[in-house]
Amino acid sequence: STLSFVLGTRPEIIKLSPVIRACQRRDVSFSIVHTGQHYSEELDSVFFEQLDLPTPDYNLAVGSSSHGEQTGKMIAEVESVLESERPNVVIVQGDTNSVLAGTIAATKMEGIEVGHVEAGLRSFDRDMPEEINRRVSDHAADHLFAPTDTSRDQLRQEGLPDEWITVTGNTIVDAVQQNVEIAHERSSVLSELNLDERFALLTAHRAENVDDRERFERLLDSVAQAADEHDLSVVYPIHPRAEKQISEFGIDVPDSIQLVDPQDFLDFLVLEDEATIVFTDSGGVQEESCILRTPCVTLRNNTERPETVDVGANLVVGVDPGDVADGVHEMLMKKRNWENPFGDGTAADRILDTLEYE
Ligand code: UD1
Ligand code: UDP
Repeated sequence: STLSFVLGTRPEIIKLSPVIRACQRRDVSFSIVHTGQHYSEELDSVFFEQLDLPTPDYNLAVGSSSHGEQTGKMIAEVESVLESERPNVVIVQGDTNSVLAGTIAATKMEGIEVGHVEAGLRSFDRDMPEEINRRVSDHAADHLFAPTDTSRDQLRQEGLPDEWITVTGNTIVDAVQQNVEIAHERSSVLSELNLDERFALLTAHRAENVDDRERFERLLDSVAQAADEHDLSVVYPIHPRAEKQISEFGIDVPDSIQLVDPQDFLDFLVLEDEATIVFTDSGGVQEESCILRTPCVTLRNNTERPETVDVGANLVVGVDPGDVADGVHEMLMKKRNWENPFGDGTAADRILDTLEYE
């Protein structure tokens, strides 16, 4: 095939779906190599079905383990698949271990170029595994698809040549535009979860938040307190990593937080669109709430999506109760009329145009 997509986690499936669809529209031959980093149905196959994507040609079934073991296995397995596939270009998206592995395997192979979608994001926090993954991938890739001018400028500052960089917008805008109306038509999540007219949506799964017992407890307490003050119930579709930590630590989740299973994309879009406010440590959720004009409070000390803060859609507050409460207060006063900084929903086409697959 001409292109190979190497992907492995929920956000990669969602954010590459518009690019895969664009390939189908343009009759560009492609293959999908799934690393198997995510394998639970609710983090994986549910998105292939709902987004109507072809079943991966390869599933490497690498599964969960330490960073080194997981990444190492993926590099070896991706290399052997690419030996037989021999694509011209390998496309990766984002900052996960699957991205790092796909990039390292492909970039050293003769005749294969790497295109990194969502290039140039930086949290400037080198304790995050994602920050290492995105820095290494950007510097090893051949085509850098930066979502915004900010990310392009960052790549330039790091000395990467202009000819390698294209500002495309973020493919999440394409994905939201392609799915949000269908979501409202088809989803009955609001009644299924018995949600009031006003509710808050919470997601938290990042290692630095949920792998530290004290910090995770503080995060949950801060969200519950702030929500209580504004008479909001909280719905928390829980990522398996966070679920595991709650049971391992024996954390008592505050009553006002309703834990539910991870949601499929259409249900989740409706929750984001209808929520009074979003609490999150997710990258994709910061972007989507900005695009859907739902105020967002980010439960982290930094963000690699400063555009959301600059347009007034997001505040980065950490996990301390006073800061979370202040953030909620400020965001609820805002007019929901900020601009979407992530492009016009044609990122996938721009990516294929750049690669000259007309
Ligand atoms: C990974 C990414 C993170 C991304 C997230 C998207 C890295 C370093 N991290 O984090 O950047 O935001 O995906 O959701 O690549 N588990 C399951 N079922 C699964 C997958 C995982 O139960 O299908 C559980 C396992 O207990 C596993 C844990 O979740 O040990 C963590 O999984 P892992 O893939 O290591 O990282 P994520 O937290 O999912
Ligand atoms: N998402 C979803 N169901 C959920 C939670 C998130 O479909 O229950 C989607 C969300 O719409 C976004 C993506 O998953 O597109 C974000 O993935 P995640 O938060 O796991 O990873 P991150 O973006 O932080 O890397």
